[in-house]
Amino acid sequence: MNAPSGADVVVDDVSKSFGRIAALRGVSLRLKPGEAVAMAGRSGSGKSTLLALIGGLERPDTGRVLIDGQPIWAQPRPARARREVVGFVFQRHLLLGALSARANVEVPLIGAGAHRAARHERAMSLLEEVGLADRAEHLPSELSGGERQRVAVARALANEPRLLLADEPTGALDSVTSERVFDLLFRLRDRLGMTLFVVSYDRSVGDRADRAITLTDGQIDSEHPPAGR
Ligand SMILES: Nc1ncnc2c1ncn2[C@@H]1O[C@H](COP(=O)(O)OP(=O)(O)OP(=O)(O)O)[C@@H](O)[C@H]1O
Ligand SMILES: [Mg+2]
Repeated sequence: MNAPSGADVVVDDVSKSFGRIAALRGVSLRLKPGEAVAMAGRSGSGKSTLLALIGGLERPDTGRVLIDGQPIWAQPRPARARREVVGFVFQRHLLLGALSARANVEVPLIGAGAHRAARHERAMSLLEEVGLADRAEHLPSELSGGERQRVAVARALANEPRLLLADEPTGALDSVTSERVFDLLFRLRDRLGMTLFVVSYDRSVGDRADRAITLTDGQIDSEHPPAGR
């Protein structure tokens, strides 16, 4: 697999409201290329909204998001730029139930126009990467929760994203399995060099990241290096 370099992300004074609810209030943040940043914060503090803005799924009301110096909404085709740069892992895996693990990992490659044999090969190497090569032909219903989430990680990596956004990727898993999924994410970051932004309540994730931030009521409330560094 090629080693994509990490994306440089700048969030510049971004605000976003839903009706009268101010989900984000003037958030500024920089994710350096290859940096792993963990974000905690109470339910409703704006974490998923911030990820959606960085990933180009939502447009900010005010402020800008720049990836590698380019404002994402100013590009002629923001959706395409997003697909080429960003990988998402969500709390629930969102795999397609009728498709095998391998076929799920191939889905983003279809959009990218890869040929069938190349897609197959790439999906297999990604499943190997997450330790699931022997489960390639299993349906999601035939996999454990942790295995499904690892398939979701493989799928998020299919297009060699330079930015991986993970929104409570282990929210539905037990602590041992969570630990494994986080191990996988950090190991992939170390090896592939992508920028990693991960939402988790888990303190140990904050400790393993290069930096940990907390969102409170739509604002960044603290930014600190992990304990012991
Ligand atoms: N599409 C939407 N329409 C209306 N309100 C929304 C929408 N999305 C988010 N909100 C509101 O914005 C605020 C922030 O939501 P967000 O999902 O970003 O929180 P969160 O920190 O991810 O919470 P959780 O930890 O529960 O996932 C909440 O008050 C939420 O109700
Ligand atoms: Mg959320």
